[in-house]
Formats: sequence, C-alpha cells, structure tokens
Amino acid sequence: PGLNTLAKAKGKVYFGSGTDNPELTDAQYLALLSNTREFGQITPGNSMKWDATEGSRDAFNFTRGETIVALAEKNGQQVRGHTLVWHNQLPNWVSNGGFDNATLISILENHITKVVANWKGRILHWDVLNEIFNENGTWRPSVFYNTIGEAFLGIALRAARAADPYAKLYINDYNIDGTGAKSTAMYKLVEKLLAEGVPVDGIGVQAHLIVGNVSSTLQTNWERFTSLGVDVAITELDIRMTLPVDEAKLAQQAEDYKKVVTACVNVPRCVGITVWDYTDKYSWIPRFFPGQGAALPWDKDFTVKPAYEAIAAALAYN
Ligand code: G3I
Repeated sequence: PGLNTLAKAKGKVYFGSGTDNPELTDAQYLALLSNTREFGQITPGNSMKWDATEGSRDAFNFTRGETIVALAEKNGQQVRGHTLVWHNQLPNWVSNGGFDNATLISILENHITKVVANWKGRILHWDVLNEIFNENGTWRPSVFYNTIGEAFLGIALRAARAADPYAKLYINDYNIDGTGAKSTAMYKLVEKLLAEGVPVDGIGVQAHLIVGNVSSTLQTNWERFTSLGVDVAITELDIRMTLPVDEAKLAQQAEDYKKVVTACVNVPRCVGITVWDYTDKYSWIPRFFPGQGAALPWDKDFTVKPAYEAIAAALAYN
C-alpha cells in the first residue's frame, strides 16, 4: 500500500520525504517522490533557507522554493517549510553585518514576513527556528542570539504567525530524540513560550540517527513534549551506518527504523514522519560523514531495503 497510505490509516497526517531541486531532473527519482502512496508530504532540503531566499538584503528569490511547492501541489502533497531562522546557510550580509539590535530585529521580521507571506496558505508546517540549542541545553550562539538575546525566538514565531495564520509553527532540532539535557531545554522553552502567549504548535525532531544507537526513550520523550499541548513531527529521519553495507547492519537498521516509527505510532500527537530524502542516492550523509551512509529506506538504485519493510510493518501492525 505504501508508507503514506499506511501512516494515514494509523491516523498520522503524512509520511514524507525531504528533497532538493537538483535531483528533480532524475526521472526515476521524481516518479517515486511524486507517488502519494509512499509520500504525502515533501520538504525542500535547501531552497527555502535564508541564503536561497534572501541572498542580499531585501532582495527575495522564491524560484527554487516555488518549484518544490508547485510540485507538491501538482502531486497532492503537503509541504513542510524549512527553515526560516538558522545559523547555517545564513548569508554573510546577515551573520557579519554588524547590525545593532533594532536593525537586526527588523531584518529578521522582514525576512520571515516576506518568505512566509509568499507561500501563505500553502505550507502545512514551518520550521521557524532551527537548531537553537547546544547539546547541553544552553543557547547556541548565533548572530540572532548574540545580538537580540532570547527575545529573537518570540519575535520570529509571532512574525510567522502574523504572515500565515494557517501554517503550524515548529521549533526543530537534532539530538532531541530521546530524553536528555537538550530535550529538557526544548521542553522548558516551549512551556515558557506557551505561557507567554507566543505561538508555537509543534516540536520538530530531526532524528539524524546512527545504526545500533537509537535511544530507548523516544516514546517517553515525545509524550512529554506533546503533554505541553503541541504536536511532534519527525522531520529529517535517517539512520546512518559505517560503510560498507552488510546484511547485519541492514537488519539492525531495520530494527532501528521500526523503533522510531513505532514510537511515533504510539504517540497520538506525533503527526508525521519525514525521511531526509528517501534514497541513498541523494542522502547528505556521505558528504558530511565520510565513510558513512546507506541511511535511507531505499538504496541508491531505488530498491527497498529491510528498513522499508520494517517501517511498513511498524505502521501496519502496531
Ligand atoms: O548550491 C551549492 C552549489 O552551487 C555548489 O556548487 C556546491 C559545492 O559544494 O554546493 C552547493 O551547496 C550545497 C547545498 O547543500 C546544496 O546542495 C552546500 O555546499 C551543502 O553544504 C548543503 O548541504 C545541506 C546542509 O543542510 C547544509 O547545512 C544539505 O543539502 C541539507 O540536506 C542539510 O540539511 C540539514 C537541515 O537543513 C537541518 N538539519 C540538518 C540537516 C543535515 O545537515
């Protein structure tokens, strides 16, 4: 039946995939990405980021992002907008501009307002804030935090809500899969923002994981998150291994995918799962972690791996 069909039958909103503009020229890739039995949602991996949309001040370019949104609409898929405020892929004119507090606030508000308004009504979730914590739960230094302080969080979320009241607003991070200092920091932040009346609708759990090393506290952690009254989405799932691939690693990877998907199935407000691209052919892993890879449910030849069967089984039988 396909992973999206199975996810929806379990009450989830979607099973989806990250993607990127260059690979859309690969016909075999595009056909499977567009298959709504497998994917009910797509996320642009790069083309909505600050460097892609506002490379120079107040000069916006929505072309590549629009290609992905238009594709999703043609296919009947939802879009997760990714990402409005991140310290990476942030153009130099922002990170090294030397702006004072008031100027940087206006730059931040202008960016969010124009990007979000451009796709108003067409985006299911926005990753408004990305990777704002260090691993120990302290604030990650960034030009926004260093200049504006913690207030940049509420400013960003309010600007996003004002520009598109239909989109659900997410705070997205990695290493918040299981319980731990970073997850606790996220929990406390969302609790505080909600108490202050700042709009936040969901916590995005990136879930860039390692074979054989998946936390046993996923469900507990996500139940704790959703107890705040927000949704959880698994936004960038992949489970990498040290190459070369062998049968034992593929079997362990399947177990690991099953663990993640089962936890999401068991948490009612875990609304969807997105793999960070679906085929090993276009995974970011080998470029960033030399010697590692094979992190996705489809191999580089578009053949399903044991992980695929495990995801399907976890969605079907839990
Ligand atoms: O666009 C340029 C191209 O012009 C140039 O020729 C080429 C040479 O290296 O680089 C291209 O840019 C690359 C870009 O991907 C598009 O392919 C960047 O170098 C490369 O760094 C960038 O990597 C992206 C990475 O974020 C950057 O931080 C990955 O594709 C993307 O999958 C990854 O996604 C992030 C999420 O946004 C947030 N969570 C973590 C996740 C993995 O890092």
